[in-house]
Amino acid sequence: MIRSAVTGIGSALPKRVMTNSEFEHVVDTTDEWIVQRTGIRQRYIAGEDETTASLGEAAARKALASAGLEPSDIDLIVLATSTPNNTFPATAVEIQNRLGMHHGAAFDMQAVCSGFIYALTTADLYIRGGVAQRVLVIGAETFSRLLDWEDRTTCVLFGDGAGAVVLEAAEGVGLTSDTGILAAKLRSDGSHKTKLYVDGGPSTTKTVGHLRMQGREVFKHAVGMITDVIEDSFAIAGIKPDDIDWFVPHQANRRIIEASAKKLGIAEEKVVITVDRHGNTSAASVPLALSVAVEDGRIKKGDLILLEAMGGGFTWGAILLRW
Ligand code: ACO
Repeated sequence: MIRSAVTGIGSALPKRVMTNSEFEHVVDTTDEWIVQRTGIRQRYIAGEDETTASLGEAAARKALASAGLEPSDIDLIVLATSTPNNTFPATAVEIQNRLGMHHGAAFDMQAVCSGFIYALTTADLYIRGGVAQRVLVIGAETFSRLLDWEDRTTCVLFGDGAGAVVLEAAEGVGLTSDTGILAAKLRSDGSHKTKLYVDGGPSTTKTVGHLRMQGREVFKHAVGMITDVIEDSFAIAGIKPDDIDWFVPHQANRRIIEASAKKLGIAEEKVVITVDRHGNTSAASVPLALSVAVEDGRIKKGDLILLEAMGGGFTWGAILLRW
């Protein structure tokens, strides 16, 4: 049977680091409050010359290099983002052009922080359906451009960045020992819209708008939703929490990550945490964290990885894959 295997990975961050202490001059907050409530110590903020397309392109080039491929080898680009360069055309198409690709197809997916999980699931279906052989899946965001920099309850939480993987068709035998994606499960429920949304858009206010969030409400739902969808993916693949080598969750808040791992029975030392250095980079957070753990040698060939995310909508989802 056909599986989709990750054969390359890369990431990109803006040049500018913004520490928690710098926020003390922007809003009424402290480094101590931010670290205690979220685990965030710093985040990267895009400069004027840095955009979702430029960060996405840089991450994509690194993923291609690590797979030993050229842009001409790619059939499809799926970009997960909620901060496109323009309302249209899709930023994926802009990245396609920046890579010098004029064949194949490219499109954006919008599922906020779950975007990369949605994009990877979609790419997996393209590959397993025989429609594509090699897909570039990118998560890239410039959330700093959506923030209300006077709202201390949101502006301290987010950052900018990009991560990308190359997904290629691989032969499997249908067992959990196969390399590649073993299970994927997506969920959404629009009744939660006002808990986390952007208060503008082309068809309503004709503006871009700012991110608004009822943080306590998001927190209340997060752990239950995340663990439910992960348990569904375990059931699909026939895998137990103990089998997991690395848990690479969406990096929104250290407390949510730790509570989810505890509820699932996944040991602390198997959890990849990058929220301290990246903040919440929305659709970029999972591929950025994955890329850190691959580059520092923690994730090795054959490891069983659990990916998870939850975000605005609400949308949420989980993927099990063997590296
Ligand atoms: N600095 C200082 N004080 C602050 C700050 C700040 N940056 N932000 C809020 N406060 C204050 C509040 O005003 C409140 O004050 P009050 O008691 O006088 O009203 C107090 O701190 C406590 O506020 P809470 O909202 O109850 O704080 P909580 O412990 O819930 O932490 C947080 C807030 C960090 C936002 C938490 O609720 C959270 O992480 N929620 C989930 C958010 C999230 O993960 N969102 C992203 C997921 S989806 C996605 O990634 C798009």
